[in-house]
Amino acid sequence: MAKRDFLTLLDVSPEELKALTQRAAELKRAHLAGEDHRSLTGRTAALILQLSSTRTRVAFEAGMAQLGGQTIFLSPAATQLGRGEPIGDTARVLSQMVDVAMIRTLSHDDLEAFAAAADIPVINAMTARYHPCQLLADLQTFEELRGPIGGRRVAFIGDGYNMCNSYINAARQWGFELRLACPPGHQPDAAALAKGHARLSETPEEAVEGAHLVVTDVWSSIGHEEEQAQRRQTFAPYQVTETLLDRADDRTLFLHCLPAHRGEEVNATVLDDPRCGAWTAAGNRLHSQKALLEFLLLDP
Ligand code: CP
Repeated sequence: MAKRDFLTLLDVSPEELKALTQRAAELKRAHLAGEDHRSLTGRTAALILQLSSTRTRVAFEAGMAQLGGQTIFLSPAATQLGRGEPIGDTARVLSQMVDVAMIRTLSHDDLEAFAAAADIPVINAMTARYHPCQLLADLQTFEELRGPIGGRRVAFIGDGYNMCNSYINAARQWGFELRLACPPGHQPDAAALAKGHARLSETPEEAVEGAHLVVTDVWSSIGHEEEQAQRRQTFAPYQVTETLLDRADDRTLFLHCLPAHRGEEVNATVLDDPRCGAWTAAGNRLHSQKALLEFLLLDP
């Protein structure tokens, strides 16, 4: 049977995504109850991180261990990737040694090249274009705290980058209304918008009106560090505050993938507001990634 990859949310069907979030919720209940669940005993994962990570790395490493498997962490500095070995050659070799590979790299093309050369399932642990693992946790969190997201209104405020692109895919897969407030010059690709699953609002205030979920991300993602000063000016009107959330639905939820920059995309206090689900979502990275590993390794 052909292997399955998880490079974007569009690699799985809406029905499979629903099953994944349900399984993540089951795994969370079992974990909190202290139940031992070793569905991946003897399996090995390679975790290739070419960029920094806290949540994604710990969720995959702890998740594999809890499921009875093990993870090998590969940084560019410690492998031949850092000395120029082609990514496709690395994929061919690792395919003979491990059962699944997770990769974080800026270049989505490199991720696709790795997946094309690999005989094992490949997971996107974040590229400049997409961050689908974060969306699994975000949608699990919304449904855990607020119920089904289908038909709800979601507002994404800020940079039209990998999280924004992932929300556009999520709107299609989960069937919610998505409004985007992104500064001129920082809107998602026209091609992504042309698919009709999101529409641009003029201001953050307009985007959040009646929203059941409000989401933001950092103004300067990995790879934009040298633009940070300019971006602080451009994005200043796009900061998420309690006052902005007051315009949303009475039961709105606020999510941020973290790490957050207080004083930039969020003010000093909104992450401590009762409407903030970012901490629950960070914890849910563990359960949603365990569900994803089971899906790719046990249900191909
Ligand atoms: N949200 C997220 O992916 O966090 P890390 O960069 O810490 O993995």
